Amino acid sequence: MKTSSSTIAAAAVAFAQAGSALQLATTDINSVKAAAKTVSKGLYVFHNAAATTGQFNQPQPWFWWLSGSGWTGLMDYTVYTNDTTYKADILSALAKNVGPKYDFVPPEQAGWEANDDQAYWVYNALTAMEYGFDTLPGAPTWDVIATNAFNLYAQRWQIDSTTCGGGLKWQYNPQANGWTYKNAVTNGAFFQTAARLARYTGDQKYADWATKIWDWSRSVGLVSADYHVYDGTSDDKGANCSSVNHDEWSYNIATYLHGAAHMANFTDDPVWEQHVQGFVNTAAQVFFTPAKTGVMFEQKCEPTHSCTTDQTSFKASLSRWLGKTAVLVPSVRTTIMNLLAKSAAGAAQSCAGNGNSTCGVSWSGTGFDGQSDFGVELSALETIQSLLVFQAPPFAVKNPKDDKATPATNIAVPATHSNCARRSR
Ligand SMILES: *[C@@H]1O[C@H](CO)[C@@H](O)[C@H](O)[C@H]1NC(C)=O
Ligand SMILES: *[C@@H]1O[C@H](CO)[C@@H](O)[C@H](O)[C@H]1NC(C)=O
Ligand SMILES: *[C@@H]1O[C@H](CO)[C@@H](O)[C@H](O)[C@H]1NC(C)=O
Ligand SMILES: *[C@@H]1O[C@H](CO)[C@@H](O)[C@H](O)[C@H]1NC(C)=O
Repeated sequence: MKTSSSTIAAAAVAFAQAGSALQLATTDINSVKAAAKTVSKGLYVFHNAAATTGQFNQPQPWFWWLSGSGWTGLMDYTVYTNDTTYKADILSALAKNVGPKYDFVPPEQAGWEANDDQAYWVYNALTAMEYGFDTLPGAPTWDVIATNAFNLYAQRWQIDSTTCGGGLKWQYNPQANGWTYKNAVTNGAFFQTAARLARYTGDQKYADWATKIWDWSRSVGLVSADYHVYDGTSDDKGANCSSVNHDEWSYNIATYLHGAAHMANFTDDPVWEQHVQGFVNTAAQVFFTPAKTGVMFEQKCEPTHSCTTDQTSFKASLSRWLGKTAVLVPSVRTTIMNLLAKSAAGAAQSCAGNGNSTCGVSWSGTGFDGQSDFGVELSALETIQSLLVFQAPPFAVKNPKDDKATPATNIAVPATHSNCARRSR
């Protein structure tokens, strides 16, 4: 489907009347790129290379995770548009936060960093691994960094499994508030990390872990039989995960959706594909229905105008992972791209604030609603740029099956030797 130039012209008039609203023709790649560029600038007003909250100005201290999500958004932007404006800063921020053990456990965040905070930085490593993004100077490759984090999660799972028959706790520090909570964003993150490593490496060990985390999540009811994803469950005072907090947030379902998409792609098993279809259908019912507009919304807080600084960013996760799922699982492609196109158009018309295209929280057709922050800009950026997801290179695999030219044996000369050799010549 292609938007006719007269439709675009009519839309342009409507936008002109709205003042500074962002122009977006959702079927025109150049228009999407231009809109994403404008919104990326809106996100980047928060950049601060000296900030210890992940190189973006964030409320202290626990919005470090949100910066991690922001860098993934900008990495996607770089890959989807070929605009390298942010590339050096992305690499610098990742280098500053990856930590001395290359696992995104930097000493600066020690004491309060939770599993899910770490995960939102690890997604950068997984994304870089899949798109062949530049490695950090002197650091291991991105798959090694992601594996380091995976290994920590696996160890913590063993420790946490004395209750509830399994499940990662939200916090890995027993002193931290929330140590008794076993939640969807955390277990979904471990599930997704395992699934992405399985698809990339082809190693069954990761797929087995993904299946184990999936089975546990289903057994305690974090993921329901009809693909709702609930916020969390607890082992406090012997509760043993017997009851579930049924709040539904868009980033929770998105986290499981994208893990299932990698499993479907890796296994080519119709059962995983059904799980993906189930999540897409449930997400469409729960998160795309304000006044039947079909535009994405955060149903738990948007209708009451009460979304907080981290909640405004959750739609970024849903758009990001819906888009990539459309690439990995062909049977949901049309459904997903229609949801994203409507939402991107809705987001763009909200970007009419401050006379400079600042975006709003609500996208269902009322212009700028007056609430803006880092998470708002990130959600709008990911939703608009997700229309470019098919511009990205194919998801990489570690050892391409058709690449028989390279011998499998490790005969590579260590870097230090070749450097010496070069110097002595
Ligand atoms: C848009 O205007 C607001 C309010 O003046 C300002 O804080 C923000 O930095 C501006 N955004 C851009 C991209 O210049
Ligand atoms: C980015 O560059 C690649 C390789 O040159 C190309 O295939 C892709 O279409 C470009 N993406 C965009 C959005 O222009
Ligand atoms: C806690 O739940 C797990 C998983 O259902 C079960 O195996 C275990 O026996 C339960 N523990 C207690 C003390 O009830
Ligand atoms: C896996 O994803 C690729 C795109 O990266 C797609 O071409 C392929 O059809 C998918 N395979 C399966 C089994 O879904």
